[in-house]
Amino acid sequence: MLDLRNIRFALAAHSPADFPRDGRPQVCFAGRSNVGKSSLLNTLVGRSDLARTSKTPGRTREIHFYSLAERAYLVDLPGYGYAKVSKGMRRQWGRLIEAYLTDNDALRLMVAILDVRHDPSSDDLDLIAWLESQAIPYVLALTKSDKVSNNVAANQHRRILEVVDSETTGGKRDDAPSERRAIRFSAKTGEGRNELVRTVLRALGFVPATDSAASERLSQ
Ligand code: GTP
Ligand code: MG
Repeated sequence: MLDLRNIRFALAAHSPADFPRDGRPQVCFAGRSNVGKSSLLNTLVGRSDLARTSKTPGRTREIHFYSLAERAYLVDLPGYGYAKVSKGMRRQWGRLIEAYLTDNDALRLMVAILDVRHDPSSDDLDLIAWLESQAIPYVLALTKSDKVSNNVAANQHRRILEVVDSETTGGKRDDAPSERRAIRFSAKTGEGRNELVRTVLRALGFVPATDSAASERLSQ
């Protein structure tokens, strides 16, 4: 059985030459600086100490690969859209992320993380449009849901999907808005954790799509 807590830091990639090439399936996590990528990853695996979290935006500068049971990788991408880093630095990050995402046969899913309180930024929308143009499967995680009431979160959930739908063409039109999935999430309360665990394990090929009871057990 796969235990999500069976995870260890594997490597930090500073350049594409560092990327693992062992063919193990990967799920990556991306979002703006400070949106809560590392916190989400820690909550997902139930290990508060795995990925470093910080009040200082732009903390994670390399691509961090975490080995899951030596059978897969969870991948923490550096945050984008942080204004205070130099243009050169931003270009370098962009190139690294783009190299990671381009023609990556091992990548099964991106968890694209947005703050549930805010409309998607132009950087967020660029990323989503790019994922759609490259046909990279993704799910939206709308994080920090504990910071607003359920009502506000539900309204924002709807609104974010509307904005994404109106601002990205998707390249092809078989991606109806209802097909875009968004999971409300909180690293504080654990809201959305089980659903995200199921989604990630399924993307990695670890849980039969129909066996939700087993995936619940796996995620405990
Ligand atoms: P970078 O690596 O710098 O891009 O940041 P990140 O996206 O990894 O964000 P990180 O997980 O470090 O979280 C940033 C800040 O938001 C920290 O102060 C976290 O404690 C806080 N935070 C993250 N997720 C949540 C959440 O779901 N609820 C609340 N209340 N705070 C959160
Ligand atoms: Mg981080």
